[in-house]
Amino acid sequence: MKIMEIEGNRELSGTIRISGAKNATVALIPAAILTDEEATICNVPEITDTDALCAILNELNVDVKRASESIIINPKSMKNIEIAEKFSKKLRASYYFMGALLGKYKKAVMYFPGGCSIGARPIDLHLKGFEALGATVKNEKNKYIVEAKELHGANIYLDIASVGATINIMLAAVKAKGTTVIDNAAKEPEIVNVATFLNNMGARISGAGTSTIKIEGVETLHKCFHEVIPDRIEAGTYIIIGALCGKNLKVDNIIPEHVDSLLSKLEEIGTELEVGTDYVIISKSDTYKSTTIKTLVYPGFPTDLQQPFTVLLTQCNGKSKVTETIWENRFMHIPYLNDLGADITVKNQTATIIGPTKLTGTSVVATDLRAGAAMVAAGLLAEGTTTITNVEHILRGYEQIVEKLTSVGAKIKIREI
Ligand code: EPZ
Repeated sequence: MKIMEIEGNRELSGTIRISGAKNATVALIPAAILTDEEATICNVPEITDTDALCAILNELNVDVKRASESIIINPKSMKNIEIAEKFSKKLRASYYFMGALLGKYKKAVMYFPGGCSIGARPIDLHLKGFEALGATVKNEKNKYIVEAKELHGANIYLDIASVGATINIMLAAVKAKGTTVIDNAAKEPEIVNVATFLNNMGARISGAGTSTIKIEGVETLHKCFHEVIPDRIEAGTYIIIGALCGKNLKVDNIIPEHVDSLLSKLEEIGTELEVGTDYVIISKSDTYKSTTIKTLVYPGFPTDLQQPFTVLLTQCNGKSKVTETIWENRFMHIPYLNDLGADITVKNQTATIIGPTKLTGTSVVATDLRAGAAMVAAGLLAEGTTTITNVEHILRGYEQIVEKLTSVGAKIKIREI
């Protein structure tokens, strides 16, 4: 088991370079099998979710070459076999193989995906989308068999603007006969990045980034070269850390518009910020005002930053509130923040934070990926040593987190026990 130890209360300054987006990469890798030619993807983060998807590609006999920050995927000799539970349960995004295999072979067999336990996380909208395209779905003891004689275009309205369902339907529809329209599609930047990748391979997708996406089916897709966008959640996490402990901390290689909702909340509470074309420079302030946040789909305040942002709210004067509207179980970090000295109560889907409170290091748990990011942020601020267990969650989504934080002055290490 890995544990992380942080000696907190140190000023952080220097530059942190943001890696490629996890939530785009995890869709781009399965999407690459839709061609029979080589797809080169660069700016790929070296995180364990990338490793887990490459393991599935290996199982499917897809040739994968990895170099520093890039990956070359060649599915020429690929075989469409069942994806076993030990692979699917490693991460949520394994479900993108359903859409990609269905789109390519008209058949996908795999087990229910894994991922963070932040809610029930049903996949009904994905499956309804596949059915609308002409597929039948059988579910036998957690195993899904999705197949079609032919996939045809359809008009699909999503009851919820789901990121996963939008991408999965795009993957299945890209080679279907005719035109598919997804209404109430999710608008997250990762969706635009995946649509651009597919279009680079010869797909005909328009409207990605708006709530109506149109996909005109094509027969074949060809080789391509593609770059993953910067990770807006990793960027947001380090920007929050800068507001807690930074002295001119530069968070570099970002698309500032992708973190607009975070930046405007930071300005509201009184953070010192300089926003450049592809960077943010941030310093800790002595006094912060309290505020209210509500998580929403993009471009609203992202649920994935709610947990690290709560740490910053412990340093704001007065009563702040966080309402989580996307996931029903995303307050698991709160008891651990209270163990560190925070004053937070949770009622239904709202956390009330009274601040400012002094945080003091203790033993805490990374219950999920972003709860883990919150523990890192809290540990960097707290006086004394914070020990975090279940570090594996953090390593699923933050590339070289120890190296990046050490380079700006943090005292942080991971050790095996
Ligand atoms: C993606 O999850 C991200 N994961 C999540 O990031 C992120 O929190 C989430 O989008 C929201 O932004 C990946 O991209 C791999 P959804 P996804 O489908 O696609 C409900 C992180 O920390 N829903 O947009 O699984 C669902 O229960 C992770 O990096 C259905 O009811 O999220 C939720 O309440 C965690 N039926 C809401 O929709 C469905 O079929 C939004 O989920 C699908 C979703």
